[in-house]
Amino acid sequence: MKNTMLILVLFLLSSCKGNKDKQGTDIPLIPVFTELQNKAKAIFGVLPGWVDSPISPITDEKVQLGKTLYFDPVLSKNGTQSCNTCHNLSTYGVDNKSFSPGDAEGTIGVRNSPSTLNAALHTAQFWDGRAKTLEEQAGKPILNPIEMGIPDEKFAIERLKNSEKYRKMFASAFPEDKDPVNWNNLTIAIGAFERKLITPSRFDKYIAGDDKAITDKEKQGLQDFIDVGCITCHTGPALGGNSFQKFGVYKEYWKETKSAKIDAGKSDISKNDAEKYMFKVPSLRNIAKTAPYFHDGSVKDLKEAIRIMGKIQLDKELTPDQVDNIFAFFGSLTGELNPELAKAPQYP
Ligand code: HEC
Ligand code: HEC
Repeated sequence: MKNTMLILVLFLLSSCKGNKDKQGTDIPLIPVFTELQNKAKAIFGVLPGWVDSPISPITDEKVQLGKTLYFDPVLSKNGTQSCNTCHNLSTYGVDNKSFSPGDAEGTIGVRNSPSTLNAALHTAQFWDGRAKTLEEQAGKPILNPIEMGIPDEKFAIERLKNSEKYRKMFASAFPEDKDPVNWNNLTIAIGAFERKLITPSRFDKYIAGDDKAITDKEKQGLQDFIDVGCITCHTGPALGGNSFQKFGVYKEYWKETKSAKIDAGKSDISKNDAEKYMFKVPSLRNIAKTAPYFHDGSVKDLKEAIRIMGKIQLDKELTPDQVDNIFAFFGSLTGELNPELAKAPQYP
């Protein structure tokens, strides 16, 4: 009898401990799948551990180099800014400003800095999608006169070639290349690093079978988010990032956001009137931490952003309860970045 009890206790203990799935998410030994969990898994899918590059395989050396570049103000003209200035990895990949000032001259940009976290899951980069990949995107802020302000590619490469550390790091990241310190490799390395910036959260544990990972209120918020139709645009493992939609389907957006300037979005690039006011649907991962909201950071309060979305994207006045529940659900999307990736490297 005593023995049977002991075995039972041991069994219970081991089933509480849990194990890890492929993504490193803790899931219980006996996963539970309710209808809502199954539904959420089918709608959003499983968050990958990282996103492979179609142009150049990701290696530890490339990631290490990309990380060093990401944090290094050497990539701005006056040495005052790194990627991390506007996409701070210790504050969820953003600077929490409506607009970000650029290198030395301090000229203010015209759009809100989106997070680099989970950006690898997007089908295109920038609010208007004008860069197809992270690698294509990575070079742009460096050469943007109101961002990092480097005059041209050659200028940046000469600087890096003057550094013994970078000569070594590029050579070990790109061992096949005769002249590894070049612009293309710089963008590949930054891209490789960003492809690892994925932040699993309690929501991922929940859809992996841990029914207790999110609270009842968060579950209700998830249910509301599905039922009112937010998922027509915010789908996939990033809850967005995979389509372009008109901002203000039912009402001009600036009337609700009180935006100071009217930004036409995608049509400014494509010159196609059908794309007027179209923006990339943003990811909602870590959304509770990345205020202010929208492409111009015009709304500071997340509940207000939720209310506006219901009104102008779905023509629905959400009840205060619905707004509260969705707000709670968003808290379950606050994730964790591997601390090794987030930690700023030491510069000599
Ligand atoms: C001065 C601030 C600033 C700096 C420095 C900066 N960025 Fe950005 N970043 C922005 C802004 C603003 C946008 C949005 C611009 C737009 O969509 O038109 C952006 C967009 C992005 C995006 C697209 C994300 C998405 O959701 O579409 C990525 C990725 C990114 N930056 C990475 C980087 C990298 C890598 C560096 C360093 C090489 C860098 N940024 C430097 C402000 C900055
Ligand atoms: C028809 C498509 C569509 C629907 C439906 C939709 N959204 Fe959005 N959502 C967008 C677009 C596009 C943006 C970006 C708008 C901009 O800033 O230019 C956005 C932005 C947001 C933002 C701000 C994100 C950020 O990083 O600034 C939040 C929060 C949000 N949506 C929540 C919701 C909620 C909650 C619902 C349901 C009530 C919803 N959305 C329904 C398309 C949609």
